[in-house]
Amino acid sequence: MNSPKLTPAETTKLLETAKSMLPQAYAIYSQFRVGAAVLTEQGNIFAGCNVENVSYGLTVCAERNAIAAAVASEGGEKMKIRAIAVANARNVPCSPCGACRQVIWEFGRNAVVIFQGDNGQQTVSIEQLLPSGFSW
Ligand code: THU
Repeated sequence: MNSPKLTPAETTKLLETAKSMLPQAYAIYSQFRVGAAVLTEQGNIFAGCNVENVSYGLTVCAERNAIAAAVASEGGEKMKIRAIAVANARNVPCSPCGACRQVIWEFGRNAVVIFQGDNGQQTVSIEQLLPSGFSW
């Protein structure tokens, strides 16, 4: 298994990729643009942005869209998340929502999550964000 720890260069690249998605976001209802970038165990980076819908509940978060892109490229049974970075255009504290935490956990029990916390950029494990994720 790869080391769960990211180098500063890897962290910067992942965050920059997440930020590069912000202009692509479809956030016409909330005006809250989110970008995400996944680093897979294979070493590839996949990006996504939030995609809202007039039927609000159909909105898909940036994190899950980035993960879907990674699955589509590497294959769902092979793709493992090493790290995921999240950025928002308002530069306010924003950690992955509960649904996204469960989806990150599905593909990376040791995944590292990088996001804007209350005191600036934070790097934590998915286990810290989602202790006892759902499984049966
Ligand atoms: N959003 C994300 O993209 N990721 C999160 O983890 C939380 C929320 C999006 C959904 C919606 O388009 C907007 O942020 C406001 O809730």
